[in-house]
Amino acid sequence: MIAIYPGSFDPITLGHLDIIERSSKLFETVIVAVLSNPSKTPLFSQEQRVKQITECVQHLSNVEVDTFSGLTVEYARQRRAGVLLRGLRVLSDFEKELQMAHTNKTLWTDIETVFLATTKEYSFLSSSVVKEIARFGGSVSHLVTENIAKDLYNRYQND
Ligand code: PNS
Repeated sequence: MIAIYPGSFDPITLGHLDIIERSSKLFETVIVAVLSNPSKTPLFSQEQRVKQITECVQHLSNVEVDTFSGLTVEYARQRRAGVLLRGLRVLSDFEKELQMAHTNKTLWTDIETVFLATTKEYSFLSSSVVKEIARFGGSVSHLVTENIAKDLYNRYQND
């Protein structure tokens, strides 16, 4: 079974990586799919995010990194994936995630959303939190991999 892990990943955090590592043990193939969203201005370009994620998942032989635009279910259909993966951190994630899972099911009945509970030490973690800390010069080395911490440092130093 092929599973898609869709997201913005701007940038990928240790919380995302934890979901990827754990799901790679559950599914034949996991495709980390980076959304190109024209209505959002990301900190890192789609190419940069793909490069960052690829570096982070090098040790996982059944994990692939790709990009998509438009509807996630259409991308999943193209890739012959049966599962969409999402992490759940706290109760407040649930409402949005359930709505998204139900919406996706109305668009394609064959797609299943599988939720993995985020490891509890990452339950507070988000890409936005990481960016906020990095923007004000704080250390993010406990929240992201070394390559991402460097990219964040360079990105904000040049602002
Ligand atoms: O990392 P994010 O920003 O929480 O990921 C959200 C994502 C990319 C999974 C979601 O916005 C998405 O699937 N967007 C593609 C558009 C789509 O399929 N919308 C219908 C489902 S609500």
